[in-house]
Amino acid sequence: MSLPAPRHFLDLWKLQGADLRVMLEDAKARKAARAGWPKGKPDEDQPARGRTLAMIFEKNSTRTRFSFDAAMRQLGGDVIISNAVDMQLGRGEPIEDTARVLSRMVDAIMIRANVHEDVERLAMSATVPVINGLSDKGHPCQILADLQTFEEHRGPVAGKTFAWVGDGNNVCSSFIHAAPKLGFKLNIATPAVFHPDMMDLARAAGEQGQIMTTHDPREAVRGADCVITDTWVSMGDTDHDERLEALEAYQVDEALMAEAARDAVFLHCLPAHRGEEVTDAVIDGPQSLIWDEAENRIHAQKSILAWCFGAI
Ligand code: CP
Ligand code: NVA
Repeated sequence: MSLPAPRHFLDLWKLQGADLRVMLEDAKARKAARAGWPKGKPDEDQPARGRTLAMIFEKNSTRTRFSFDAAMRQLGGDVIISNAVDMQLGRGEPIEDTARVLSRMVDAIMIRANVHEDVERLAMSATVPVINGLSDKGHPCQILADLQTFEEHRGPVAGKTFAWVGDGNNVCSSFIHAAPKLGFKLNIATPAVFHPDMMDLARAAGEQGQIMTTHDPREAVRGADCVITDTWVSMGDTDHDERLEALEAYQVDEALMAEAARDAVFLHCLPAHRGEEVTDAVIDGPQSLIWDEAENRIHAQKSILAWCFGAI
């Protein structure tokens, strides 16, 4: 008898909108249920009790590393964390073999990878759930936390307009993946050289996603309910100077925020480069939700983990 396929969390476009909605509602409920508790106290139901998550990092991380660790503790489980460079993976052991070995030792694997294909290869050979903790092609965990944050402050995302301004990068891709699944509109302003992934746009179009691309940040932001940006130089990018020059006109400042809806909010996954993609006045201003957004990485990831473990 063959085992059921593990529930991987690799890319939002591969998931059902209904499952994303289940995760979002679970994240909100779990957060509310433990309001005021010490952060190390486990949730009542402890759906990860007896389970261990392995985390592999090929790139730096603050939020993803600490939030997954805290999340597993709150779910009653445990973690083993390693930088890839300290593993045999860093000396050329095939990622498929790493997947097979870790699947015998832990109950789920999270990887932050340089190359998205490696996340896919890990999942193909793993017999436990694999979670994409950021690759060059996506950051699905982040978008769940972002959408939770928006909904806590402004209600359901369905029918709302999100505006992405800046680099058409991995985080932008995951917003494109989420838009048709959860029914929000997405306007994207990037320079031509840093356009969003055409395959992502084609997929979203195939799902009747309402996505508009432009080179004009004002056009993207006009009337939007949420304005989002991210660093102009992502981990692994080597063309720093070219990026800063091409993206200069895409800074989110107060004048640009004034084009959005009056009650628009601002999101940024962090780490931020104040004075580059966003000004101090916006990121530290009254419309910014960045600290709730960062905190929600824990709550959203608990729901992702609970879903991977089949507990929701
Ligand atoms: N937003 C985010 O993923 O942050 P880290 O790179 O610190 O994990
Ligand atoms: N786009 C950024 C996100 C960091 C959380 C990067 O990939 O470096």
